[in-house]
Amino acid sequence: ASLADVGSPVPDRHRVPDRHAAVPPSAPGAFTNTPDTDPAVREHRAWVREVLARVPGSRLGVAGIDAARVRDAATLDVLVRDAQKAGRAWGARPAAERAAVLDRAGATLEAHRGDLLEVMASEAGKTVDQGDPEVSEAVDFAHWYAELARGLDHVDGAVFVPAALTLVTPPWNFPVAIPAGSALAALAAGSAVVLKPARPAERCGAVLAEALWEAGVPRDVLRLVQVDEDTLGRDLVAHPAVDRVILTGAYETAELFRSFRPDLPLLAETSGKNAIVVTPSADLDLAVRDVVASAFGHAGQKCSAASLVVLVGSVATSRRFRSQLLDAVSSLAVGPPDDARTQMGPLIEPAAGKLLTGLTELERGQAWALTPRPLDAEGRVWTPGVVTGVRRGSRTHRTEYFGPVLGIMTARTLDDAIDLVNDVEYGLTSGLHSLDPDEIATWLGRVQAGNLYVNRGTTGAVVRRQPFGGWRRSAVGPGAKAGGPSYLVGLGGWAPARATS
Ligand code: SER
Repeated sequence: ASLADVGSPVPDRHRVPDRHAAVPPSAPGAFTNTPDTDPAVREHRAWVREVLARVPGSRLGVAGIDAARVRDAATLDVLVRDAQKAGRAWGARPAAERAAVLDRAGATLEAHRGDLLEVMASEAGKTVDQGDPEVSEAVDFAHWYAELARGLDHVDGAVFVPAALTLVTPPWNFPVAIPAGSALAALAAGSAVVLKPARPAERCGAVLAEALWEAGVPRDVLRLVQVDEDTLGRDLVAHPAVDRVILTGAYETAELFRSFRPDLPLLAETSGKNAIVVTPSADLDLAVRDVVASAFGHAGQKCSAASLVVLVGSVATSRRFRSQLLDAVSSLAVGPPDDARTQMGPLIEPAAGKLLTGLTELERGQAWALTPRPLDAEGRVWTPGVVTGVRRGSRTHRTEYFGPVLGIMTARTLDDAIDLVNDVEYGLTSGLHSLDPDEIATWLGRVQAGNLYVNRGTTGAVVRRQPFGGWRRSAVGPGAKAGGPSYLVGLGGWAPARATS
């Protein structure tokens, strides 16, 4: 179902329709994930139409936001030192107080769901079906990290000592969930945050920060900064008052950060080149659905996206899977993010660099099963591409394109398929479609990636239930997973508890 239908009346109100009515109260110790907007509920569809109507010409996050646009190193220095000082006071507050602020942040993020969807569509090109789960994830991060904070003060006779200042440098592809999760984790741990949104998603970062301030996060504890990366990026990352950096971005960016400051305490989630393997025992209809969603959701611009599908044995040699897959991909409705019929929206910026190469050039042995084509003069809206004949070691096998191109590879056996999947530098997500328990066990034992998904797509990890993080060149730092039980621990250190009597 589409998230907006045509014809029913738009109610004269702006609040989010109650989305919790059907969720039973949590059992003791259980964690309830926040529900997404539900296309099956008439009021939700009407509400989405209202949000979409506000997208063209939206000015949310443009003005009136308390973001420091920092233009010189001296101003940056003062800002960072002040934030570190504020962080010491914040970290000295009881964890229960910080947790209460985080729980309120869950509520204000929910209250601003419509604003966040509006700014994600207008600035980052995100369709509502892609943006909506991000807001739910941000709300979940707030409540989950609040819960973790409550257990953090004392563990086994040791005292948690938070980092005073955490620099958060999120990506533009999840412009709400990732900055929210990173900032909330640091705040829960007792650290101040300097949040520097990715340049193409600064307005999203601004609307997010407003929601957190509204919840009671002090303005000196969460600082929103906008800086020119080329001139001041190094000053910010290498500043001695920055105690931790949470980066989500390309592996090369993590390397650059380390070159700025070799001893940088970095928690980074980096690139991926992720595959879904489909064996002859799979439910092929389910596999088609999950491959399409994993490859082309948000136009493939996710670190978790599946940009390769590896067909095993008879799935590779018969026509059935391929033709179903190509039918499904060519049926995707491509268009602007504020059209409720759109299933695949635009790229955040015109295709350039390796993505443009991936969309326009074939390597030896390759052929287009579906040729990607630009639909606009700018080169932001592309039809989805599917390339066959992808060879081991080729650019398409190993390069993260970060866009709407899916490569098809074939393997004689499951073991051969796993070899192909592991023969990349990264290890972020990986998928298997198989109904054979032995195949599943073999794959789970051998495949090298942080998040393994069986009979499910590779994107959309769920807070608490499916903590998210990579392996190999998909992570730098301690490797704790976002949304998992130990993420906060990397945001501070431990001191022995002093005996009191
Ligand atoms: N957490 C996102 C996902 O699982 C990626 O950052 O898709």
